[in-house]
Amino acid sequence: MSAVPALPADLDLADLERVACEVAREAGRLVVDERPTELGTTAKSTRTDVVTEMDQRSQELLLERLAVLRPDDAVLGEEEGGRPGTSGLTWVVDPIDGTINYLYDMHEYAVSVAAVVGDPAVPGAWRPVAAAVLNPPTGELFHAHTGGGARLTGPGGSRSLRANPVSDLGLSLVGTGFGYAAEVRERQARLLVDLLPRVRDVRRHGSAALDLCAVACGRLDGYYETGLNAWDRAGGMLVAVEAGALVGGPVGEVPTRDLTWAAAPGIAAELSALLRELTSRHVGSVGEPG
Ligand code: IPD
Repeated sequence: MSAVPALPADLDLADLERVACEVAREAGRLVVDERPTELGTTAKSTRTDVVTEMDQRSQELLLERLAVLRPDDAVLGEEEGGRPGTSGLTWVVDPIDGTINYLYDMHEYAVSVAAVVGDPAVPGAWRPVAAAVLNPPTGELFHAHTGGGARLTGPGGSRSLRANPVSDLGLSLVGTGFGYAAEVRERQARLLVDLLPRVRDVRRHGSAALDLCAVACGRLDGYYETGLNAWDRAGGMLVAVEAGALVGGPVGEVPTRDLTWAAAPGIAAELSALLRELTSRHVGSVGEPG
């Protein structure tokens, strides 16, 4: 794994956070206000993995706005059409995280926008430094920058976030998610069979970005998933870390496509050890991003 480059000294992280919030809000307005009754979909990696016309429009808007506000930065998005940059900073965006919820008009999806240093295509070679994760239908905006703490700003005001003070894994509520390929889902289900008796209960909400923010604000004690891409986790993982949660992967503190976990500090050691064992026993490698 390559090392993450040092943070450029003149980088204003609070300003990057403001930019992330601004563009996430604009994209959020678009996906709510212009959601058609009949959503056009196109299949991606499998026939259950779809992109809607609104995922594409949201990403186009994010690209346009970031080109104006941060013209020298690169953009990597879930949908086609990112762009290279010259500044060393990349905006990793998920224009709608939780597309299946959006498709069914369920109100648990997010626009996730994160500024990262390093190369987001290389595991372990990047890290998010500023982020915003917006749930457009509820108006809840989770945001953070490195060293600045995490906040939730919404219709009821703004507050700082702290992961739960839980210490008993058996009394912990753990979120997870599943990939789109049937063969990967079978392996993920086997892991779940072994995990479920060891925790209070499990939730599958349908947006990895919001699940990570849920650990940050105490709506979940822990979360894990195998098969996540950089755009699913970049924003939420910074919010979780800045709220005092621990985040990691198969080894150490670097989440990868093979395993991403986030947990309240009091259960992180036990949960991560269990997940590492169960992931290697049941899931193994989930392959290349797609
Ligand atoms: C998906 C969601 C879901 C997770 C999947 C992701 P998408 O992202 O985050 O919760 O379980 O692994 O692919 O496809 O809705 O952007």
